Amino acid sequence: MICGVVMFKIIDQREIQKLGGRLSRYPYSYTLYCFVKKHFNIKDIVIWDCTFGHGRFYACWLEKPKMLIASDPYVHNWIVKPDIFIPETVWSAKRKIKKLNIKIDLLIVDPPFGGSEYHSREAYTYLIGSPNLIVEEAFKASNELGIKHIILHYNKIVEKENFKIIDGFTFKAVCRFLNATPQSHTILYEKI
Ligand SMILES: C[S@@+](CC[C@H](N)C(=O)[O-])C[C@H]1O[C@@H](n2cnc3c(N)ncnc32)[C@H](O)[C@@H]1O
Repeated sequence: MICGVVMFKIIDQREIQKLGGRLSRYPYSYTLYCFVKKHFNIKDIVIWDCTFGHGRFYACWLEKPKMLIASDPYVHNWIVKPDIFIPETVWSAKRKIKKLNIKIDLLIVDPPFGGSEYHSREAYTYLIGSPNLIVEEAFKASNELGIKHIILHYNKIVEKENFKIIDGFTFKAVCRFLNATPQSHTILYEKI
């Protein structure tokens, strides 16, 4: 897929699952890990995940970031324990993070999207505001806190003023009960 001048790779969940072990349970996590590793020295960065959920995104990371700050208005059963957790929406967590005075290198956003027909996971049913509002507020937070990079996992590719898309991939999940392969996009933005 081509977005502007950036070519998106299409990754099929089954390709990662073939690798076996824990990767077959969390194929997206490993894909995200490889994507982040391509752009950052993971051990040196501070990540803020503002829609942390269960922390499934980090289930298969082979390295830990310098610090993982998580926020979510709901406390789900965590798979991975963050260093700091703020039980707030993205817009109120932003104020707490300002007070912490920690420089964030990367903001990760994964709003609930797609609708229940594709998502049996319970984390997709918790929503305060709308997915679009969460995305808007994440970019606003990034501007206000001087965060240079954002990774957005979403079902559409959105263009944002003051941010350029520098890389991305499309992930084809497999939804067996519907016999379907819904797609999501993971996009890395850099502040201009
Ligand atoms: C798709 S799930 C995230 C799953 C997560 N990436 C993981 O790896 O487990 C979306 C999350 O957004 C949270 N959420 C709902 N409304 C929110 C809001 N206004 N601000 C921040 N997070 C919100 C939900 O509680 C849910 O955990």
